[in-house]
Parts: sequence; C-alpha cells; structure tokens
Amino acid sequence: MDDKALLDGGTRAKGDTVGEAVLWRTAMTEALYGDEGFFSRANQPGGSGGHFRTSAHASPLFATAMLRIVVAADEALGRPNPLDVVDIGAGGGHLLRRLAVLAPTYLGRRLRLSAVEFAPRPADLPEHINWYREPPPPGAVAGVVLATEWLDNVPLAIAEVDEAGHLRYVLVEPTSGAEVAGGEPTAADAEWAARWWSDSPWDEGVRIEFGAPRDEAWATAVSAVSRGLAVTVDYGHMWYARPRAGTLTGFYAGRRASAVPDGSRDITAHVAIDAVCAAGETVAGQGAVLTTQREALGALGLDGVRPPLSLATRDPAGYVRALSAATQAAELMDVEGLGAHYWIVQPVGISAAALPAGLRP
Ligand SMILES: C[S@@+](CC[C@H](N)C(=O)[O-])C[C@H]1O[C@@H](n2cnc3c(N)ncnc32)[C@H](O)[C@@H]1O
Repeated sequence: MDDKALLDGGTRAKGDTVGEAVLWRTAMTEALYGDEGFFSRANQPGGSGGHFRTSAHASPLFATAMLRIVVAADEALGRPNPLDVVDIGAGGGHLLRRLAVLAPTYLGRRLRLSAVEFAPRPADLPEHINWYREPPPPGAVAGVVLATEWLDNVPLAIAEVDEAGHLRYVLVEPTSGAEVAGGEPTAADAEWAARWWSDSPWDEGVRIEFGAPRDEAWATAVSAVSRGLAVTVDYGHMWYARPRAGTLTGFYAGRRASAVPDGSRDITAHVAIDAVCAAGETVAGQGAVLTTQREALGALGLDGVRPPLSLATRDPAGYVRALSAATQAAELMDVEGLGAHYWIVQPVGISAAALPAGLRP
C-alpha cells in the first residue's frame, strides 16, 4: 500500500462517498499530501513553507528547551555515539538546524540528526541532517524522537450526530468544502469514540473527530525508540473537555480560514491528547509525562518575566537581550496560545528519573 492509502486508511466502505463528497480522512490526505497537496508543495520556492508558525519557528528558546531533553537522554544512555535525534513531521527542519547549532561540542559531534517528512528536502538544509519519508523501523533509534505539531495534521474521519440521534460520517466535497451526511462509522471508529469521546452527551450536532490514526502514528513513533525518549508537542483536548462542534480548521496564508480541503491551505484538527498518550504508553510499557507547554518550559528553565529596569542602567545591552528572551519565552508560554499546547514526554527503556527535574512524574 502506498503512503496515501495508508494515511486514509486504505479501505472504502458503503456510505464513504456521495457524489464527489468523500470521508474527511480521504479529503484531508489528498489536500495535504496529494501530488498538489499543501505540504507536498512545501520547502520549495513559492511553496507553502511560510504558511504556518509553530513553537519551533516562534523562538530559538524552544530548541534550547528541547536540547535539555536531548542532553537528559544522552546522559541516561551513557553518551552513546551516535545519539539519534529524529524529528517526525519536521517541516523545513527548523528544530534540527537549531539543535545542531546549539549543541555543545562534546554532544554535537555525536548527534545523528534525521528529519522524517513528506515534503521535499529543503535545498539549503545542511548536508549532515538526514531526510527520510518514512519513520525509522521499530527499535532503530537510540536517543530522542521529537514531533512538533505533527499529529494535528494526521488525517482523520469525522462524524456528526443527526436529528435522529445517529452518528453518521461527515463527507466533504473537496473543491467547495460542502458537507453531506454519509454512512455509519465502522466498528473500529465507533469503538474509539465510545472509549475516548463518550464523556460528553452525543446530542444532535455533536461532532466526533476519530483520533485512532493519531494514536497509531504516535505508537509508531514510540516503537521506533529502542532506548531514550519520545516527545510530542501539539494542541489538543482531554476526555473531560472534548469540543462539541469539533476543531477542524483551515489556515490560509497563515490565517485561520474555512476548512476547504482543496490543497490551497493547511487543514488541521486538535489532538485527543490523552488517547495518543495512552497509545504511546502501551507501546513503551511505561508511563509518560503529560503536561502543558507552559509547565514543561517552566520546568526546563524558561520564564517570561521581564528583567528589572535597573539592569537597563547598569548593562543596557544585557537588558535588551534579557528583554528579548523574556518576550520570546512569554509567547511560548502564553496560556492563551502556544503555552496551552500539550507535551507528552515518553521514556522508553530508561527511567523517568532521567528526565530533567520538574518534568519527572
Ligand atoms: C504543521 S507542520 C510542522 C512542521 C514542524 N514540526 C515545525 O514545527 O515547523 C506538520 C508537518 O508534518 C508533516 N507530516 C505529516 N504527517 C507526516 C508523516 N506521516 N510523515 C512525514 N511527515 C509528515 C507535514 O508534511 C508537515 O510538514
């Protein structure tokens, strides 16, 4: 089966299409990763690379914090050579580029940096950073697997409760974004919804975003690690606060837009983060740390507190530097924005006691 068939589930069932309308999972797969898909056109001149801004873009302080995670894994593994760092859904490779620059020499010369990305390799990516389309096979990574805002772009199917109280897939016409009701969810989707989406009432109009493909994607990422850490950062929701109307959103030229899956824009849906976390824990056979970005970055030494004005008179240049760092940290830790993102830090074959203090369970 090819990549796209795998992403959209590879199967077709009765009620999956009506006229031109298809399951959201199928539409999202084509819109993002088809030949003319939004992400397939990234990393090229005029491509979609500048159309999204994640924590990795917002500030180098995000990479500084990730470096502390990498250092913790390195120590837990006894400073191996090489130490793998694999970024899944790496985009333009921003995080890996920054880690390469920030790593101290004793570590930098042992780092084996790899991106896993559907988009083509950027022409200006340093040669020593590897570029793959597929995640590493099970157990191939001794080190760290990272993923920032990857899972929200893993395509999923959506269903809505109709006026008779039945759950029906939502089908979408790709060029217009018009939606129609489709068939009943498969047994597997219905089971996922009963397990992960049943704490809010399923009355008319409730939309369920079936997160199983994200759970599987994260399980694959965790299974790639033989020993070390898997870390994912993304926006999401927990069992006690699933959004009634769903979270499907488009981003066009960096701005929130209607979710039309025509390849012109990013199409994303929040991650059922507790379901993803549980899938990773099952594969790893040990517990993960699930926290918010605000908490995680605080534990890793960032704070958004402005420097005292007295510093401006004593050391004007130092004051400007400290103010800039505080401003960047404040953006990364803002509870109304990036700070509300979730972090899952999953140890694999190492003790959670190896995590930086403050991130230990
Ligand atoms: C929103 S971007 C985030 C990019 C990057 N992590 C960052 O923070 O800038 C999501 C990326 O995940 C990639 N992606 C999604 N699913 C993928 C998969 N299964 N394998 C490889 N890349 C994938 C997309 O092509 C896209 O570049």
